[in-house]
Amino acid sequence: MLSYQHGYHAGNHADIIKHLCWVAVINRLKQKNKPFNLFDTHAGAGCYRLDSEQALKTGEYQSGIARLDNIAAHDPLLQDYLAILSSYASDNQYPGSPLIASHLLREQDALHVMELHPGEFEGLKQATKRCSGAGQVHSHFRDGLAGLVALSPPKPNRGAVLIDPPYESRSEYPQVISTVKQCLKRWPQAQLLVWYPLLSERAGDKQGAAEAMCRTFAELEHNVLTIELRVTKNTPDAGMYGSGVCFINPAWQVEKLIGSALHEVVGYLGPDSDYSVAWLNNIES
Ligand SMILES: C[S@@+](CC[C@H](N)C(=O)[O-])C[C@H]1O[C@@H](n2cnc3c(N)ncnc32)[C@H](O)[C@@H]1O
Repeated sequence: MLSYQHGYHAGNHADIIKHLCWVAVINRLKQKNKPFNLFDTHAGAGCYRLDSEQALKTGEYQSGIARLDNIAAHDPLLQDYLAILSSYASDNQYPGSPLIASHLLREQDALHVMELHPGEFEGLKQATKRCSGAGQVHSHFRDGLAGLVALSPPKPNRGAVLIDPPYESRSEYPQVISTVKQCLKRWPQAQLLVWYPLLSERAGDKQGAAEAMCRTFAELEHNVLTIELRVTKNTPDAGMYGSGVCFINPAWQVEKLIGSALHEVVGYLGPDSDYSVAWLNNIES
């Protein structure tokens, strides 16, 4: 079942936290003059328009990225993120995770983007042709979870992975857990970022599945950190009231960079929004 299309959700609050985390991790990797490999297992179409029929139908971006339009950001990470978005805005485009990452690549770095939906993959191929960064971008029409395991460990093994499934089915949670375990066996140094939704009672048996997934990650012998952004109260009918990113092997102090950016962001997202940072496993402390 591949019915999810990110065009309906591009620019929502989940994109904000996910993409801020992704930029922070890539910026950290760039602090050393050594090459790295990035993987985006669920890449989507790569580039969107916020004036498209899809985006206008849900209007999700209006309570998300539109709230950060024309703000004078103070936080350096938030400035970097908004500068990337601005570089696409003149053509009325909005970059997804593949174009954000490619924008930041240096000549020596590589990005592997994977997508399984034929229509979204076609869009992704076109979008990656217009990539603005200097590094190499490889597009794979394949299952991103199987693809990640098959390509681990990359050479060089410095790098990071974004796992951003649609979670249309509850079975995607155990699939992500199994993939993370297999990836870490082959590539123990991998810095993994797993996005997950925060769901209210309305979600039925999916409610709590993400939190349980993160607790499973915390049992692995790796540092595990969660960063969450909530935009409404968790009332029974709220639906997706926020989302988070679970980091496995997070870069040193990356949570401080992201926390500082989110501290500024919540000021624009409404009175019920807040964020949190929690260590689920911190082996070195
Ligand atoms: C949330 S969207 C990705 C958004 C993108 N990461 C971003 O931030 O711009 C999830 C995408 O995963 C794709 N997908 C679903 N299952 C997949 C799988 N097993 N392997 C690769 N892609 C998959 C869907 O077609 C959809 O385009």
